Amino acid sequence: MNNHSLITLNEFIIWRQQEFPYAKGELSRLLSHIGLAAKVVNREVNKAGLVDILGAAGETNVQGEEQKKLDVYADNTFIAALKGSSEVCGIATEENHEVVVFDTELANDGKYIVTMDPLDGSSNIDVNVSIGTIFSIYRRISPVGSEPTTEDFLQEGTKQVAAGYIIYGSSTMMVYTTGHGVNGFTLDPSIGEFCLSHRNITTPEDGAIYSVNEGYYTHFPTGVKKYIKYCQETDDKSSRPYTSRYIGSLVADFHRNLLKGGIYIYPETEQHTEGKLRLLYECNPIAFIAEQAGGQATDGHQRILDLKPQSLHQRVTFYTGSRLMVDKAMEFLEFFNRQ
Ligand code: AHG
Ligand code: MN
Ligand code: MN
Repeated sequence: MNNHSLITLNEFIIWRQQEFPYAKGELSRLLSHIGLAAKVVNREVNKAGLVDILGAAGETNVQGEEQKKLDVYADNTFIAALKGSSEVCGIATEENHEVVVFDTELANDGKYIVTMDPLDGSSNIDVNVSIGTIFSIYRRISPVGSEPTTEDFLQEGTKQVAAGYIIYGSSTMMVYTTGHGVNGFTLDPSIGEFCLSHRNITTPEDGAIYSVNEGYYTHFPTGVKKYIKYCQETDDKSSRPYTSRYIGSLVADFHRNLLKGGIYIYPETEQHTEGKLRLLYECNPIAFIAEQAGGQATDGHQRILDLKPQSLHQRVTFYTGSRLMVDKAMEFLEFFNRQ
């Protein structure tokens, strides 16, 4: 493939399938289904500002259809898309208390399970700020032909077969990895296709952006407070002070830092003593992408991908981004933990 031809997501997925010698195309089809559902969700996201005309969530619109909250809509759309495929036997999402088991003969033969945050950054929907979708794909442990079990969903992040996110931003992008680097696709609305726009993304090993909700500053552990002060100090090489950027949608904050170099931090706070972000739906997929792009992700003590999940909706503290920035933040944490 040359550098100038238009490569769609589906073409790229099929092309890369050759990297998996025994692949039968199931994972490729699964990724394509996610791409398709993302386009449907994107269409609704783009209409979010029309709620006064089309009816707000919970109301009935002029066509007599009940309007759903966008996160519920996204959840339903991705679940329906994956249920209709024959690759996935079940899915766990932030919106559902329990695992959604696709109990059909076709689905029970599916090799994969999916975990997902269908709509990330939902507080930003009403104000026209970037939001996203985050997903992970794992090979099931339970035997093919049966219903999936909880153990299928509580696998370490190292077991991910693929992970990605969709960012509904100034343009819509899908970024994913299958463990062979990270690639990004921008939706061309005129043809309705995701096109390869960011080939083999690598994140700068150092950066100058820190992203943390400083409103909770007084509740942060000392190491985080001291690291934030370090980010704000002037140094002799004029690399600091760093700039502070925080959107409040993990996908958008991570995506910017991935491309420009930076660190994203969500530590424990008074309200969220274990951290706020969810291991299965947010941290594991983002950590896989971060590492594949040359960055790092940790909970402040150990690598995110090595954590053994204890429950579906488990929350963890999260530090991710450029390798040297995460190293520096860890130096502060370790030093002040020892005090
Ligand atoms: P979600 O909308 O899926 O619940 O996720 C929101 C998350 C994440 O996207 C974001 O980084 C974080 O919550 C923001 O939290 P604060 O408002 O506490 O900073
Ligand atoms: Mn989220
Ligand atoms: Mn969400």
